[in-house]
Amino acid sequence: MLNEKFRILELTKKPLITISNVTYATNGIKILEDINFEINQGCYLGIIGPNGAGKTTLLRLILGIIKPNLGEIRIQGLAPDEYLNREPIGYLPQRISQTIYEMPITVEELVRSGIDKYSRDTVDWAIDLFKISSLRKKSLKELSGGERQKAFLARALVAKPRILLLDEPTTGIDPNARDDLLEILEKLNKEFGVSILVVTHDIATFAHESKCILCLNKRMVCLGEPQRILKEEYMKLLYPTHTVFPHRL
Ligand SMILES: Nc1ncnc2c1ncn2[C@@H]1O[C@H](COP(=O)(O)OP(=O)(O)OP(=O)(O)O)[C@@H](O)[C@H]1O
Ligand SMILES: [Mg+2]
Repeated sequence: MLNEKFRILELTKKPLITISNVTYATNGIKILEDINFEINQGCYLGIIGPNGAGKTTLLRLILGIIKPNLGEIRIQGLAPDEYLNREPIGYLPQRISQTIYEMPITVEELVRSGIDKYSRDTVDWAIDLFKISSLRKKSLKELSGGERQKAFLARALVAKPRILLLDEPTTGIDPNARDDLLEILEKLNKEFGVSILVVTHDIATFAHESKCILCLNKRMVCLGEPQRILKEEYMKLLYPTHTVFPHRL
């Protein structure tokens, strides 16, 4: 099902994304402060934290959509813009503007817009991956919320990126679609070495799926393997009034 192009010969321990002393502020308000971490190629990182913690902002910084006020971000040694000139990064945004939904664009056209060079086979592959081939001629405004989410996931993957940034990918999709998505992500990560960063509130699920968890609350609260991180002492720092942690560990 997944194309050979994803396969890399050797899973390396090379640094992939380096975030050094990054602070981001807007209108004089600090949104992220002193963020420092490095992740290796082949990572599967879950990023968690309360609403407003700066998770989406962090992904937008990695994509070069916004620039840090202090510090720097390097992807394989390059600034995000330089990296993106050479290699695609798959991105599922958290919020997709209402105007896009209302444009007369079909699922097929949306998925096509994720690659520079059109290939019918590749578009079919991405559409089939999310089992939405029956929707390919439908326009976005005719889709349900979950169907749209699948179309945008197909768009994020169609360029066969080595890096995939997903912002709350399981929101709004049914349990079957969620299982399919998790299976696809696991396969991409394990067999094809795709590096995955997932922002999520679905902590129980990604505690099992991801290899590493970053807890963010404007600053880095902690970073490490799920078993080490998802403990009540840390969770209390993120969600002080929530009492059912740790999840199924
Ligand atoms: N363009 C902007 N202008 C001003 N403030 C912003 C902007 N974008 C984000 N913020 C603020 O930055 C903070 C972090 O936002 P961000 O979207 O990164 O949070 P998040 O962790 O993704 O939250 P959620 O779980 O709700 O998606 C919030 O307080 C938000 O109001
Ligand atoms: Mg967000």
